[in-house]
Amino acid sequence: MADTQDKYYEFRLRTKIIFQSGGSALVAEEAARLGLRRPFIITDRVVLRLGLLDRLTGLEPCGTFPDVPQDSEVSIVERAAALMKERGADGIVALGGGSVIDTAKAVNIVFSLGGRLADHEGVGTLDVPLAPFVALPTTAGTGSEVSQHAMVKDASARLKIPFTSHTLAADTAVLDPALTVSMPPPVTAATGLDAMTHAIEAVFAANASPLTDALAAGAARDIREWLPRAVKNGQDLDARGRMLLAANAAGVAFSNAGVGVVHALAHGCGALRGVPHGVANALLLPHGVRFNRTAAPEKHALLERIFGEDVAGALAALTRACGLPTRLRDANVRPEDLPALAEYGEHDGALIFNPREASREDLLGILQAAF
Ligand SMILES: [Fe+2]
Repeated sequence: MADTQDKYYEFRLRTKIIFQSGGSALVAEEAARLGLRRPFIITDRVVLRLGLLDRLTGLEPCGTFPDVPQDSEVSIVERAAALMKERGADGIVALGGGSVIDTAKAVNIVFSLGGRLADHEGVGTLDVPLAPFVALPTTAGTGSEVSQHAMVKDASARLKIPFTSHTLAADTAVLDPALTVSMPPPVTAATGLDAMTHAIEAVFAANASPLTDALAAGAARDIREWLPRAVKNGQDLDARGRMLLAANAAGVAFSNAGVGVVHALAHGCGALRGVPHGVANALLLPHGVRFNRTAAPEKHALLERIFGEDVAGALAALTRACGLPTRLRDANVRPEDLPALAEYGEHDGALIFNPREASREDLLGILQAAF
């Protein structure tokens, strides 16, 4: 490790994290502790159909917004915030995957601060207290319940607008493995590899610290061990619990450390060809590791202790073992897309935290290797 004398570290986590199988039943008590009298539920149709809202025993919501789509957008956020106001809500309980929880964060911005969502773009504009917010993830992937980020699609521009502030993370995150057992294997695999990508990119990222390294390395180790089991047998509550905890730890790590080149390129694959976020990350991850290896050899060495000498190869093998495609060409990306994807990646905010500077040619090289 380099000398600490020339280092600056900063680490934030505002979220109380509760883990328990069946822990959804604790939400009513947590909401009351946060002063929530009229909680408003934000969720999606899948959660509704699976009857997962029934697990929130004793919670008396003043309203429910069940219409969050796969990729949430500004109009949805503003519609949900308006409904919250209409119902006289005083805070949010979000139950769902990354899109639901990101949407809830953005709804909280509009609900708490007023105006339109676009009024609150930019750095530092959100460092004010928002309404009480409890999040229950139903996937083990994004870590959105603890992260400082929310991504919302601007429907007109086909862009994702990022919002960043530590105030966006939930006041309380309830990790209940029982909520995740109905995830089908491909979703378990993709979201799990998104979490793995958070862990690996956090290790390499510019704002990494000993705290984030410890969380990220532990998460990477656990995901490698438990993800194949969760994919193979969705009912394995032990594997589901381990994955939920690892995704959460990876979320805390990347929220503080940053991500990097893999996320920068994956965002474009999602925007241009609708490749699921976790799948795009999984396909690009080994190539991102190869690209960053020389720039941060001590970080690669940290990962070698988990994966052996060939970290990139071990990650590709994990993706294969989880039944996901291993090449971009098998995930709806076409050869003629690669230059546009390189250009998209060059302008993506995630690239700022990559340990090695990447030119457009570098990005094209990574995409070609992954194709
Ligand atoms: Fe991600």
